[in-house]
Amino acid sequence: MAKPIQCIVAVAQNGVIGREGRLPWHIPEDLAWFLDQTKGGTMIEGPACYAELGKALEGRGTVVVSRDPAKTFPGAERTADLPAAVALAETMPWTGPTWITGGERIYAEGLPLCSKLFITRIHRDFPGDRFFPADWHQHFTKLASSKDGEVDGLKYTFEVWERGQ
Ligand SMILES: NC(=O)c1ccc[n+]([C@@H]2O[C@H](COP(=O)([O-])OP(=O)(O)OC[C@H]3O[C@@H](n4cnc5c(N)ncnc54)[C@H](OP(=O)(O)O)[C@@H]3O)[C@@H](O)[C@H]2O)c1
Repeated sequence: MAKPIQCIVAVAQNGVIGREGRLPWHIPEDLAWFLDQTKGGTMIEGPACYAELGKALEGRGTVVVSRDPAKTFPGAERTADLPAAVALAETMPWTGPTWITGGERIYAEGLPLCSKLFITRIHRDFPGDRFFPADWHQHFTKLASSKDGEVDGLKYTFEVWERGQ
């Protein structure tokens, strides 16, 4: 059976996901959630995401999508486009889901392939230069939601959505 393809992201109220190559917020519980959910699966990410993480994370597979053959990604596989990344993730030894983990373009191309969306809703607007697809909620129905968490006055909620209305 094919591995499920799932998306994981943290999104501000105004749709921002990043600013100048970094996350605009610091929420340790969200990082722990991300690491926990994606463990044992295969992450598909862009070169800027690989650079931000600084390496291929342990305990999971990583496929970096890059059209630039001069770039190297130690510890990760690479493909030139997203469909090839999904096909490669399917053959990798990690038994967990294939995870679409950003950035902007990878989310835009990958979200239509996803059966589930793990979204951390950040309850504030942030300035930023990278955005999650604005119409995402039209394609998914909420399955589960955590109680609000809070760090330094910043509230957030973990939600799981599945495809369909
Ligand atoms: N909030 C969250 O959950 C979350 C998650 C992930 C990332 N982020 C944020 O998002 C930002 C990084 O994302 P990003 O969007 O800047 O970068 P990215 O997706 O990591 O990388 C962008 C690169 O992807 C490559 N690429 C691959 N296929 C492409 C295509 N079809 N069209 C265009 N480019 C393609 C290009 O590099 P080549 O020239 O090498 O092909 C492009 O420069 C950071 O601020 C990060 O913090 C946030």
